[in-house]
Amino acid sequence: MVKTCILPVAGLGSRFLPATKSIPKEMLIVVDKPLIQYAVEEAKAAGVERFIFVTSQGKSAIEDHFDRLQLLEQTLANREKYDLLDKIVSNSLEPSQAVYVRQPAPLGLGHAILCARHLIEEESFAVILADDLILSKTPCLKQMTDAYNAEDGNMVATMVVEPDHVSRYGILTIQDENGRKIRASNVVEKPAIDKAPSRSAVIGRYILKHEILDTLSNQPAGAGSEIQLTDAIQRMLPNTPLTGYTYEGERFDCGTKRGWLEANIAFACQDENVYAHLVPMLKRYVDNYNPR
Ligand code: G1P
Repeated sequence: MVKTCILPVAGLGSRFLPATKSIPKEMLIVVDKPLIQYAVEEAKAAGVERFIFVTSQGKSAIEDHFDRLQLLEQTLANREKYDLLDKIVSNSLEPSQAVYVRQPAPLGLGHAILCARHLIEEESFAVILADDLILSKTPCLKQMTDAYNAEDGNMVATMVVEPDHVSRYGILTIQDENGRKIRASNVVEKPAIDKAPSRSAVIGRYILKHEILDTLSNQPAGAGSEIQLTDAIQRMLPNTPLTGYTYEGERFDCGTKRGWLEANIAFACQDENVYAHLVPMLKRYVDNYNPR
């Protein structure tokens, strides 16, 4: 159903400086893969065939990561390292699958999506924010595409966040709930804690109607003086409904050091051999807490 996914990767990653001075934050590694690869794999698992990366200056490592590298492939083949060869070949994207467009200035998530407007047909499309990494049995976007039906309009992934975190997210006004689906009557970007209509936050997975691109084209700047995707979703209401999807899984905010560190531990623990080593390793540091 959803064949195209936009991956906005133009953000500065300032919370991770100096690491992100020359490395895009989407190239930060969780265990053995960069965040952006997790995002692409998740989209592929949901049936996506076309990837639009909205980039900015200094992000060329992302293009390189999904490109073929003749010399490396040849070297691995010569050394008969076929498992590694297979990994890097299957991770690359064909020229017909990947498009890179630039966001010329950091004008917000809505503006980033708008930069891909000319590449979107009359189709619903997905958006994945790579720094929201989700560990789940079924990849989050696949859960959403499986659950999506014509009445859902725009769909966003959602989770309940701590009260003092609501001002970091788009927050839904809940009209009613049916299983994992929330019908939202409104959504507001980064409300103050006392103005938040609920604690149900938008997480970085979206299935959007293509009409949102028209709405974004005349969207004034909102919170943080940025063109907000949330505001465009809100302006499409009530004609285009808004559905929050309560996904199964654990989400890590890899835009923060704490979230990234936790993701590394959680993903490492998926491998039982690593898990066996990790527990005593962590215990050693916890038991001998000794900041230098
Ligand atoms: C963006 C969206 C926000 C959403 C969040 C999820 O905010 O604007 O609505 O809740 O992603 O991570 P950002 O984190 O880019 O400030």
